[in-house]
Amino acid sequence: NHSVDQVSLQAHELLTKFYHHIFSHAKEAETARNYINDRGLTDETIEQFQIGFAPDSNEITTQFLEKKAFNLQELVSSNVLARSDQNQIYDRMRGRIVFPIRNHLAKTVGFAGRSITNLEPKYLNSPESALFQKGKMLFNFDLARSEMKKSGQAILFEGYMDVFSAYQAGIKNVIASLGTSVTEHQAALIRRYVDTVVICFDGDDAGINATFKVAKLLKKVGCQVRVATIPDQLDPDAFIKKYGGKRFKEEVIEASSTYMGFIINFHKRQFNLKVEADQIAYMRLIVEEIAQLKSALDRDRYVREIAKMFDLSPGAILEDVDQIRKKQG
Ligand code: CTP
Ligand code: MN
Ligand code: MN
Ligand code: MN
Ligand code: MN
Repeated sequence: NHSVDQVSLQAHELLTKFYHHIFSHAKEAETARNYINDRGLTDETIEQFQIGFAPDSNEITTQFLEKKAFNLQELVSSNVLARSDQNQIYDRMRGRIVFPIRNHLAKTVGFAGRSITNLEPKYLNSPESALFQKGKMLFNFDLARSEMKKSGQAILFEGYMDVFSAYQAGIKNVIASLGTSVTEHQAALIRRYVDTVVICFDGDDAGINATFKVAKLLKKVGCQVRVATIPDQLDPDAFIKKYGGKRFKEEVIEASSTYMGFIINFHKRQFNLKVEADQIAYMRLIVEEIAQLKSALDRDRYVREIAKMFDLSPGAILEDVDQIRKKQG
């Protein structure tokens, strides 16, 4: 419904300013300001991303919206506000640092609320709505788009903070999925702007498994995929904070591995390569992957790598690869 969307857009725009104003000026936001300072975000970045704070109160946000002549019931219907079991209308972001989530037209369509107490969840995102369809959007796409196009490359992160840190360091072709796993829709959207995507997720198990899935998906839509690995169990934001943007660019992004390089290592994790049966199963997986490579030169390269790994002749492996390719036509 068009007018409901318009009202919701207006509410998000006003709330963005409201939260940001409170973050910047209110006494009660001092902890929030210190938190963001400690995390290394500059005033310029705070302004750029309109970082905010939602008052830790059941009334302040709703009173603000009422004063601006919004109908609170309507804002509950469009998921801007929440209703409690006690039937009270409240701001679900209350007490959290707020990151506005902008659509491709730079309009705020949702918020991510970062808890700075120990309140779970760590991030509370606005629920889905007609305006805010998480599987169809990418975080920071509006700002990254022109850089993506110019460089032919996108860097895909897991998190909001990763985007802020990289952007602050001058690396601007940076986007993130929205807390969910990447969808085919998002992959296709990325593909429209770039050839190459560097996946730069956290180095924990969750991050590595997600990388595998995203890598497959991006391949499927025709992207060149590269995979960055971050040392010391850091995530991109933590790496940049510790070592700076220059080292991040050189040692993480430019040093990222190819899709096959990642796949060869990823599948190793699932097998015990000292066991013969595992070796064979692993080889089959890798040979399947090699067979999908379009360039004969690339195939040859990885055939040799695998041959060397198991002390086999490249010729035999190449034969298997060619057989698979024939079957696929
Ligand atoms: N996420 C989420 N809800 C959660 C946890 C995570 O939506 N409860 C999403 C957020 O988009 C988050 C991303 O997943 O940015 C990655 O999660 P994580 O690595 O745990 O957080 P960081 O981005 O590293 O956040 P921070 O540095 O603030 O801890
Ligand atoms: Mn400001
Ligand atoms: Mn993570
Ligand atoms: Mn992280
Ligand atoms: Mn982090």
